[in-house]
Formats: sequence, C-alpha cells, structure tokens
Amino acid sequence: MIVHGTLRVPGDKSISHRALMLAALGDGTSRVTGILQSEDVKSTASVLQRLGAGIPSLSADMSVKGAGLRGMRAPSEPLDCGNSGTTTRLMSGIVAALPITAQFIGDASLSRRPMRRVAKPLEAMGARFDLPPHGGLPMTVHGGALKDLDWTSEVASAQVKSAILLAGVVGGVRVSIEEPAPTRDHTERMLGARGVNVVRRGTKIELGPAHRCIASIDTVVPGDPSSASFFAGLAALATEGELTLEDVCVNETRTGFLDTLRHMGAIVEYRRDRLSGGEWISPVIVRPGELRGIRLAPDVVPSMIDELPLLACLATRAQGETLITGAAELRVKESDRIAAVVANLRAIGAQAWELEDGMRVVGSDAPLRGAVHTHGDHRLAMSFGVLGAVPGNQIEIDDPQCVAVSYPGFWSDLRAVVRHD
Ligand code: S3P
Repeated sequence: MIVHGTLRVPGDKSISHRALMLAALGDGTSRVTGILQSEDVKSTASVLQRLGAGIPSLSADMSVKGAGLRGMRAPSEPLDCGNSGTTTRLMSGIVAALPITAQFIGDASLSRRPMRRVAKPLEAMGARFDLPPHGGLPMTVHGGALKDLDWTSEVASAQVKSAILLAGVVGGVRVSIEEPAPTRDHTERMLGARGVNVVRRGTKIELGPAHRCIASIDTVVPGDPSSASFFAGLAALATEGELTLEDVCVNETRTGFLDTLRHMGAIVEYRRDRLSGGEWISPVIVRPGELRGIRLAPDVVPSMIDELPLLACLATRAQGETLITGAAELRVKESDRIAAVVANLRAIGAQAWELEDGMRVVGSDAPLRGAVHTHGDHRLAMSFGVLGAVPGNQIEIDDPQCVAVSYPGFWSDLRAVVRHD
C-alpha cells in the first residue's frame, strides 16, 4: 500500500466549539474561518441559537455578531446537544452563570455520559443542577449569581476545566482549577487572546475576577490533530510513500499520538515555529517504518486521549506488545472505548485484552477479517477504517456514516491518499 500526497484535514473540533461560544459571548463581530463543519459543531451552533445568540449556518468563512457576556436568554425548548460532550459540558458552564434555566438533552450515547463532574464544581459556585440518578442527561441547569471557586478536579478533563473557566468569565468571579494532569489548553489560550486574565501557575489554572466583556477577535481554526492522526497512522502502516498533512495544530497538549507513533518506529516530522491565533501550526510529514509495540506512560494519556482507539488498532500491526494504562476515561467517551475496541479487535482476529484502565494488544502479520460495531462512535469507525485500508485485511464497519460527528469527508480523504500497487 502506498500512502502519498498532501491533505488538509478539517478544522480542529475543540477550537471550533470554543470559537463559536466565545464569538457569541463577545460584544462585537468576530470572523471565524476554517471552522469544522461537522455534526458536533452544529450542535454547539444550534444550542447558542436557542439561547438567542445570532449564529449563522456553519461555513468556511463566517461572521458572528456577539450577544455580549450576559446577553443570552432562557431557551423556550430543551438544548439538544446531539452526540457532543463538549457542547453539553462547556455550555453548562455558560448557562450556570446566567439568570436562566435550561434543560440539556442529547442522543442515547451522550445521555449515558457522566455530567456530575461539571455539576459538582458549578454547584459549588452557586448554580443548581437536576440530574437523573445515573448522572447523565436530561440535565437541567438553574443558573444565577456565582461565587469564587478553588477546585481540585478528580479527572483530567479539559471539558470540566473549560466549564469552570467559562462560568467564571460569564459570572465575573475568580476561579482556580487544579488538574491531576495537564489537559488541552485551548480555552485558556483563546480567553487570553480575548483579553481575559487567565494564567497557569504550576498545576493550577487561575482566572482573575470581574471581566466586563471579552474582545471579539478573528479566529483561524487550524487543522485538527486528532483527525490528522488517522492519516498519520495510515501513512505509518504503508509500504511506501510520504504524506504531508498541512496546517495541523501541534499544541503540545494534543501531539501525544504523533510522538508515540515516532517512538513506535514511523518517521513523523513537525515543528513548533509558527504561531497562529495563539496556537502552534505546522505541516506534519509521515513516512512508514517498522512499527514496534509500546508501553504507553500514563502521563502521556491526556495528550492523546481521543487517539487511543487508533493506537490500539495500529498495535495489531506492530511487533510485540502494546500496553495502554491510566486510561479509565476511555470508558465514558462516546462509547466504552476499552470494551468496544477490544471486542472489535478480537472479532476481526487480533489479540487484545481489556484492562480496567486500558488495553493490551499483541501485534502480528495475520490478516484481520470480520465485522466491527462502532456503537455510533466516530473514532471507532475511523480507527478501524485505517486498519481496513491495509491490504489483506477485510473489515466491515456497521455505521461508517457516524464519522460525520467530527470528520464528514473522512472516507473520501482516505480514498484520495491510498494507492494499491
Ligand atoms: C475535549 C476534551 C476531551 C476530549 C474531547 C474534546 C474538549 O474530553 O476527549 O473529544 O474539547 O475539551 P474530556 O474533557 O472529557 O477529557
């Protein structure tokens, strides 16, 4: 298999959600270019619209007129977040700081996901939450006047950190958050670029009090490193070729997979010498190599949390054993990604075992054949899609269209860079 060419993966999902939210909270007009036009980001746009913000339909170059920090209104209908955890958790922080009540709903997968992790700190700030006994959706948030908060988070979650920061900004209060491990820092960078006083001191992120407004500035959304990772993985599995992924966000809280792929034996090149809108942007160049299994250090996990299903799939083609631990968070993603990945790997003939907080995979050259159940999880569809592109493997994916959550053009991009000679 030859994997060759140049690809510009779609805009980063995390930055796209935040660009819309911050544009909606601004006082003036913000331009957002290169936004990810996917189902998850559409969920954020429609939730903001329901709250009275003037968000136009998603397009490559959009202009968003802000409602101001406290300009959003009580919605007349529930806020449907679809499949998107980021929409639910970050928007719950904004709603918590406003004098309104809103109910958050979502699809079956999102409705099962844990929301107490945001409800607890936001309640400690003064908001009220109604949650069903399982702690998921539907969730009703009664917002209001908030107070300062010093919070130690039990989970390494950028969504929890961001919900608290957004509540602090909109509520005009001081917050500090201690995370067990550094997580993606787009919220901090984007708030900082908009004039908000937010700093990291050691393991704490601190937000100063009383922001009367946030600046409306333009955002150019860089390519999504998580989406780029699927193609980096594909190029690593090829027999020849060189793939260039253009304009990828190489923020170090996001590059754990690219670095791990290099440690496994692939040639992976990128640089941190170009900042755009507060984020490092670089071409990522990948060439194949003999892959070796790896024992992943748990402290790398947050920087590649969404790429672990892909790593497990690549590990089936690597020499020796790959061990992933410290990744219990995978059990509460769009699917239980430990159970689902291992069951699917075994179903196609790979050697894989579940651990409570990770997975063990042993590589081989044997062809992998069989049917994969995605459980509607986009990252599972793409991870097994990469494995299915390898000659000799025959993998049938039950719901290939679920990639629309984060990467609607995934299958056509895959076809564009693979050649079987
Ligand atoms: C995200 C944070 C991560 C990640 C998700 C996007 C974000 O979730 O898995 O895809 O944009 O903040 P957690 O905060 O639950 O780790």
